Amino acid sequence: MTAIVLAAGAGTRMKSTRAKVLHEIAGRSMLEHALVAVSGAGVRTTVAVVGHDREQVTAAVAAYDPRIVIAVQEEQNGTGHAVRVALESLDAAPEGTVIVTYGDVPLLSSQTLSELLVDHRVAGRSVTILSAEVDDPTGYGRIVRDADDAVAAIREHKDATAEELTLREINSGILVVDAGFLDRAVASLEANNAQGELYLTDIVARAVAEGLPVGAHVLEDVWQTEGVNDRGQLARMGRELNRRLTDHWMAEGVTIVDPATTWIDSAVALAADVTILPGTQLLGATVVGAGATIGPDTTLRNVEVGRDATVVRTHGSDAVVGEGATVGPFAYLRPGADLGEGGKVGTFVEVKNSTIGAGAKVPHLTYVGDADIGEGANIGAGTIFANYDGVHKNRTTIGRHAKTSSNNTFVAPVTVGDGAFTGAGATIRDDVPAGALAVSAGSQRNIEGWVGTKRPDTASAHAARDAAADALEATGE
Ligand code: UD1
Ligand code: CA
Repeated sequence: MTAIVLAAGAGTRMKSTRAKVLHEIAGRSMLEHALVAVSGAGVRTTVAVVGHDREQVTAAVAAYDPRIVIAVQEEQNGTGHAVRVALESLDAAPEGTVIVTYGDVPLLSSQTLSELLVDHRVAGRSVTILSAEVDDPTGYGRIVRDADDAVAAIREHKDATAEELTLREINSGILVVDAGFLDRAVASLEANNAQGELYLTDIVARAVAEGLPVGAHVLEDVWQTEGVNDRGQLARMGRELNRRLTDHWMAEGVTIVDPATTWIDSAVALAADVTILPGTQLLGATVVGAGATIGPDTTLRNVEVGRDATVVRTHGSDAVVGEGATVGPFAYLRPGADLGEGGKVGTFVEVKNSTIGAGAKVPHLTYVGDADIGEGANIGAGTIFANYDGVHKNRTTIGRHAKTSSNNTFVAPVTVGDGAFTGAGATIRDDVPAGALAVSAGSQRNIEGWVGTKRPDTASAHAARDAAADALEATGE
């Protein structure tokens, strides 16, 4: 089986520098939704037809699956021409069945494609169109049926008679077709129509003329046939896909208090008995374990949340929250934050590229950057892990069951030993042995000219030099 995904169109109404098919809903581009749908229907070979914004679209296709064949349609001379270009790009003429679908119909599911294929095979047809009855068929090709209700042709809106325009069964554009017939029919298409294009839809009348069996698979779920041309439609389709995803997860045993303000990307995985509170977005490859509670007002992208963890009013990406751990309210988990089982990242705490051991707590007003905090350690309120000396990032290690006091600064690289303590307001520059108490009191000392000597030619050195010059000038007056 071969799939041809048409994605050469311009997408002018998106008014975007990004190719239309690369606009996203539920964390996937429309093109990716189409590619996921065809691969889920058991397709062997996929051809993507690209034209407008072809560099972007080609790169996205290759990133999704480098085995997908790219066919370049230099000029968009119609859907029939696009399929011709696709067939020409293949080393050998396809055999068996060909699926033709669009890169801008993001709700089409692999289940629908599979049902379309089954219907096509069971009925023994040469062509099966995916059609739908819609309230407003404006712009769509109409399915024209004969006196026996058999499909006779597809008539494009611009070519239709007044009577044909009243037909409400539309061509979704998605179809399955016998490969041999497609090859032959597409080669003989002519552009004698209102748009002067090669219409793929003309293969229907051709099959009827040849006496081949043709039919339509009527889809009740019209959302799956709908294309996106502008940002309003993109938002509508995104909302609908999200409604489907939240319904799916609720059916799987997830409590979603307010589906309308909960956004879940396609690739997210949730266990049963997860609770999601209002205003929560679970994005990318986020995974949440059983019994965890997320929200309210939380955004997690590519975050792994363990069983029974609680994440409240938090923004996180590329991070791990261990089993039974608690995060927030008002926490910021940046890439590489790894909170151990039963650990705590509390209020107004930012964590980046750091491990926080099992049962360790960072409860209040703290920046943890490039640190390894041992299990059972407790970090005092208002602590800064000073990981950056203006040139290099360095790591800080805090030992197991260490207790550091309020308003500490750890000047990395530095190590606090297992079970060690620190005093309030301490600035820790030197390693603290296991079990010691480190205090750093004393009056302030200014080391004149330090920045100019140690950080020459930096913006800070220049600012210091300018300040010195200003001061000199002021005394000179
Ligand atoms: C087409 C169908 C119409 C159907 C409608 C559903 C034809 C002649 N008409 O309409 O019956 O109701 O889709 O939306 O097939 N594309 C290319 N290359 C081209 C032209 C189009 O790749 O030369 C792609 C577009 O990027 C888009 C899809 O094919 O993804 C459909 O093109 P579009 O112009 O939106 O559809 P119509 O031709 O108006
Ligand atoms: Ca068109």
